[in-house]
Amino acid sequence: MDMFIVRGGERLFGSVTVSGAKNSALPLMAAALACEGETTLSSIPNLVDVTTQSRVLGSLGMDVQRDESGLLHLKTVDESACIADYDLVRRMRASVCVLGPLLAKRRMACVSLPGGCNIGDRPIDLHLKGLAALGAQIRVDRGYVIARADRLRGANIFLGGAFGSTVTGTCNVMIAATLAEGTTTIESAACEPEVVDVGNFLNACGARIEGLGTPFLKIEGVERLQAVEHEVIPDRIEAATLMIAAAMTGGDVQLNEVRPDHITAVMEKLREIGVTIQLEYPQQPERRQSVWVKVTQPLKSVDCIALPYPGIPTDVQAQLMSLLACVPGISIVTDKVFPDRFMHASELARMGAKIRRESASAILNGVSRLSGACVMASDLRASAALVLAGLAAEGETVIRRIYHLDRGYECLEEKLIALGANVQRVKDEPENMPESLKLTDGEERPTYSELLDALTGPHWNLNPSEKPTPSAEG
Ligand code: EPZ
Repeated sequence: MDMFIVRGGERLFGSVTVSGAKNSALPLMAAALACEGETTLSSIPNLVDVTTQSRVLGSLGMDVQRDESGLLHLKTVDESACIADYDLVRRMRASVCVLGPLLAKRRMACVSLPGGCNIGDRPIDLHLKGLAALGAQIRVDRGYVIARADRLRGANIFLGGAFGSTVTGTCNVMIAATLAEGTTTIESAACEPEVVDVGNFLNACGARIEGLGTPFLKIEGVERLQAVEHEVIPDRIEAATLMIAAAMTGGDVQLNEVRPDHITAVMEKLREIGVTIQLEYPQQPERRQSVWVKVTQPLKSVDCIALPYPGIPTDVQAQLMSLLACVPGISIVTDKVFPDRFMHASELARMGAKIRRESASAILNGVSRLSGACVMASDLRASAALVLAGLAAEGETVIRRIYHLDRGYECLEEKLIALGANVQRVKDEPENMPESLKLTDGEERPTYSELLDALTGPHWNLNPSEKPTPSAEG
């Protein structure tokens, strides 16, 4: 396993290009199952999750190849396979996106339930509700969703849940409905750009979907989908993460290949915090372009709420929390999409952040500077948040379990290093622990004598009579 050593305090400066969107790439790859012929996808990021999705599709009879120029080619070679096994699905929840295309094209699907997740409950009841409305017979047996449908028929489907719409659920049902007989309407459809990207791909393949980007979709079923070439949209979450990195280091960064209209809420919030953001084409936010992010004034604490699109994405909540943890003043960060997605808060606290959890919110009392510590990444975006915290912290930060980061950010450390960050990837071995965080017994706790020094050192502003006199025992 690898870990990162981040030496904080470097101001990010320079230019960096945003990769293709992971959360578009994964359902797009699944959608290729529903097509005739060879699908070619460009700007597919090189990520562990993409490799996992390729393996899932391979187990379902697809030939998936990446060529030297980075294009991903997907073609069905065997239509008989319909089982997506737990061993693969448990590695990545997005593999559940094969359910709709399999049902639509092969009339049967057996897909493992993905299991637990560090960001909170992630049921798929809405996916199943939508597919059942299209006429699929579905049962859950020994951890697998087993579904059959001799023919899918258009239906009126409401896909809203307690926490809003569902992104992959909308993709699943939308893909299935494109090949259903008759008209389907989906109310409370997810409006996320990744859903629109999948819908645009399907329309280019011959589907008839109206209303993409709105909560109301109308889909006229067609006989077949003919595979096409498609370019994946830029990753709005990566763009937002890099913007926040620039803000946290007082940097001056040019981001290329950004769709500003996909991150309006994040840019608005960063501006409210005091970050300067300039667009290459301010009148055309829907165009891919460069965006400049810099800090020229002290930043202000704010409140922010993660909501379904077009709100601030839940996938940026952790990174914003890192930023606000070191902006003096009180900020409140709320997540209405995944109300338990706060595993990063306790790790940030290890770096000196003052954070109190209140149900779906975290109340932050911003400190002027975080301090380096040894922290543990719990999920993809939490990992990114800890890397950002390390960039802004004083001293060295070690981030363990960064395999989460490799699942969803293409070359993040290379991009940060190119901007001047001091980030090093090393094996997670005791001998690689930096001296500042190293312990005599090989663990990452401070030594007893270091703690004693911290307790009795000269920096306390106490009356001599109040000074602690710790026992000399270990
Ligand atoms: C997608 O997950 C993303 N993953 C997630 O990104 C992202 O956090 C999430 O959407 C929300 O934006 C991919 O696109 C591959 P949801 P998804 O169904 O589709 C509840 C990342 O870090 N819900 O939109 O699985 C659910 O519990 C990842 O890149 C139901 O109640 O999320 C949640 O509260 C993590 N029943 C809310 O809806 C359902 O059947 C939104 O979930 C489905 C969801």
